[in-house]
Order: sequence, then C-alpha cells, then structure tokens
Amino acid sequence: MLQSLTIELTKTKKQQPPADQLGFGNYYTDHMFIMDYEEGKGWHSPRIVPYQPIVLDPAAKVFHYGQTIFEGLKAYKTDDGRVLLFRPQKNFERMNRSNERLSVPELPVDDAIEALKQLLTVDQDWIPSAPGTSLYIRPFIIATQPQLGVAPSTHYYFMIIMSPVGAYYKEGVNPVKIFVESDYVRSVKGGVGEAKTAGNYAAGLKAQEVAKEKGYSQVLWLDGVHRKYIEEVGSMNVFFKIAGTVYTPALNGSILAGVTRGSIIELLKHWNIPVVERPITIEELYEADRNGQLEEAFGTGTAAVISPIGELNWKDDVLLINGGNTGELSKKLYDTLTGIQVGKLPDPLGWMVEATVVRA
Ligand code: COI
Repeated sequence: MLQSLTIELTKTKKQQPPADQLGFGNYYTDHMFIMDYEEGKGWHSPRIVPYQPIVLDPAAKVFHYGQTIFEGLKAYKTDDGRVLLFRPQKNFERMNRSNERLSVPELPVDDAIEALKQLLTVDQDWIPSAPGTSLYIRPFIIATQPQLGVAPSTHYYFMIIMSPVGAYYKEGVNPVKIFVESDYVRSVKGGVGEAKTAGNYAAGLKAQEVAKEKGYSQVLWLDGVHRKYIEEVGSMNVFFKIAGTVYTPALNGSILAGVTRGSIIELLKHWNIPVVERPITIEELYEADRNGQLEEAFGTGTAAVISPIGELNWKDDVLLINGGNTGELSKKLYDTLTGIQVGKLPDPLGWMVEATVVRA
C-alpha cells in the first residue's frame, strides 16, 4: 500500500538545535508519517506531511481505554554520509506482538520499514553526528474511533515522528543510581508487561517520582507476585556480571523483549563471554555482592544504549557496584555497540540497514 504514498514538504524548515542542547525527546524533525486504518478497508492513505498537531475527537478510544502501541529505534549518520538503522525489522515485529496483545490490527512490517525509509530520506539532514547523538524514531499506533464502549477500535492512526537526541539520562554515559521498588508493581505475567504500550509507562510514573525524590534516576521493578525476582528498569533491561558470567532476567511474559537486550546477548555469545538468561532474585544479587562476586551491572535500551548502574537501593540497603564506576565490560559493550551503529566498527552480526531510498 506504500505505492500510494504522498509527500507534502514543509514550506518553513525549523531551526535545528545545537548538538550539546539536545537532551532526549525535546525536538522534532520537519516531517512526520501518518496512515489510517479502517475496519473493512485496512491500512490506507499513507502520507508524509509537515510535522503538525493532529485533531482527534475527544471520544477517541485511545484517550479512555489506552489502546495504543509505540516503538523506539534509532538512525545514525556515518562519516561518509550514509544513513543507517539498527535492526528495524525487530522493532516492527515486536510492534506486531504488542498489537496482537492489545487487539490492534497487524501492521505490514515491510510497509512500515519502507515508510520509515521514505521519511528518513526527507528529513535526513536532521540526523545529528556528534558523538553520543542520533535520531530517535518513535513509531506509534492510536485508536481513533470516537465511541465509548469498551471494545477494540475500528479506526486507528499509525504515525512516525523523529527526534534528534543526546543521552537519555542526565548522567550521560556515567553510572546511574537505581531504586529497587518494593511497594508498587509494574506488571504481572498475563498482563501487558511485555507489550510496548502506554499503560506500562503510566503505571511506573508514581514510583519513579518517589525514587527521584530520594535521589535515584530510575526504578528497578521486581516481579508482581513474589516481589523478589528482578524484572526490568522502566526504560531498559538489566544485566549483571557475577564471577565472570553475565546474567539477565529471562523473558517471562511481563518483561519487555528489548532489541538492545537481544543484541547484547548475541554480542556476548559472539565474544565467547558466558551469558545466562534465568530468573534472578534481588536477594541473590546482594548475596553475590557480599561474596565479592558482583562485578558490574548495566542497563540496555534503545534510548539508554548501555547505561552502567553504579548504585542500587533496596529497602535502604545501598549497594555500590564496582565502586560506583563504569565497569570494563559495560564500557566495551557501549563502545562496540555505538561503533557498529555509527559505521565506525565492522558489523559482524549483520545488524545495520541502509536507511535512505533513491526516488525515481
Ligand atoms: C526506548 O528505549 O526506545 C524506550 O522505549 C524507552 C522510552 C520509554 C524512553
């Protein structure tokens, strides 16, 4: 259906912000992609238009019942001017798994990738190239049917917006402090924890606010039933290096299957570093530290990239990891992953995809 794509270019290009003032998600490129879905007709009317507000009926189901999905991925500019995407197929496949869970119609992956490449071709001048910067891409779907019955919407928008970004955390690539949450829970197995849907993030805001007041950047969620198995941080998956082996919580239905998470597991295996996916309790992490075996901790995510964790606080028991400093493996993973992404290092696992199209 992308054959019918229409492109309307902006008449007033925006001023681009300087690379050192980007932060995360504060600025948007000149254009956006939008496509409609209607029951019986399917996805239709793909178009690239100037970035602008959208008009929705106040009764649109997304406002009332949260039927919405999003994704996050990044584009990079190489020194020789090529535009690369990191594993876009994985994001749109996951979007369809989230769609399935939220009763949203399937989105054809090839069309979604083609739409993104077309948008990137129009706005490629917005991809920053300073170290640590990239163009963050936010595809999302919202339920637009103006009807208050609790039932899947008959109408949707699929949209892509893009934002030039620097580091997600104010700490940059320095270790972050994380609060282990004991009162609130994010999700339980059978819920929507493994879907990338707005409600998971809204459910985490209160705990995040409380953690911030105590001086912590983010919350580490424990499982909602036993309150002892480590799940994820709201914006990243987590890894721990204990006595030479890297551990990460196994996907259990309530943890997001991060694309960066999967890629780091592949990279560690490629390097012959032992990596194990299994349930991990918070007690055993503290125990490993008491035994002097907890060497490093880091989070992974599209926005967070590789983010070293320097401190955990669980019920006021503060655990300093690697003296609060960035570990050797975390640094090597960050350098390698970002080096591959910006085309400075070879791409041994075939992750990067050329992202612009040549128009006839
Ligand atoms: C991403 O890493 O793309 C995420 O979705 C995290 C986001 C909620 C900031």
